[in-house]
Amino acid sequence: MEPSPPLTQRLGVLLSGRGSNFIAIADNVAAGKIPAVIAVVISNRPDAPGLMEAERRGLDARMIPSRGLEREQYDRQVVEVLRERQVDLVCLAGFMRLLSPYFVSQFPSRILNIHPSLLPAFPGLEAQRQAWEHGVQITGCTVHFVDENLDAGPVVLQKAVPVLEADTVESLSARILEEEHRVYSEAICRVLSGCLRVEGRRVIGVSA
Ligand code: GRF
Repeated sequence: MEPSPPLTQRLGVLLSGRGSNFIAIADNVAAGKIPAVIAVVISNRPDAPGLMEAERRGLDARMIPSRGLEREQYDRQVVEVLRERQVDLVCLAGFMRLLSPYFVSQFPSRILNIHPSLLPAFPGLEAQRQAWEHGVQITGCTVHFVDENLDAGPVVLQKAVPVLEADTVESLSARILEEEHRVYSEAICRVLSGCLRVEGRRVIGVSA
């Protein structure tokens, strides 16, 4: 019998806005640097530039409006589409919603998020501004598994970014964003390679 070809893993990207992290992921997929395909891009906002870019690239781009829906009611619609598109790994890329326990239970250790600080410092909105105002000298970005709490799941990968004296919130945010674009793809590759194991809060590398 012929050996079966390796199955291509399928990503589902969820976003609400600009979509620069989605674009970095899509570019790396297109360049063969991430061994996966983007099976679907979902936005909860109709005007998200990231969703338009997904359409422009010929990807399956869906708008599922969240307005007026209970959290789990909305999440069930999203999970249905992710299942229909046979998504293996969900990547939140500026998706401005907390996930329900139902959603999280459907993709155990298979949902990633990126956050623009070194978690657990500065969770929530405007993390770059929080870091700048706090006066820290080092901040950065974190890719983590997602649970039902805000910016809280086990850390997959972090990159430090120094805060310079001359920095404004804008210049600091721009340098963090550059790092985000690199680190998210690297974290996706690590998770897809199957060489990570989650032990409590700790993400441990195992030899494949
Ligand atoms: C990024 O800073 C990301 O870390 C945070 O939301 C922002 C999304 O930016 N979760 P973009 O839409 O990917 O450009």
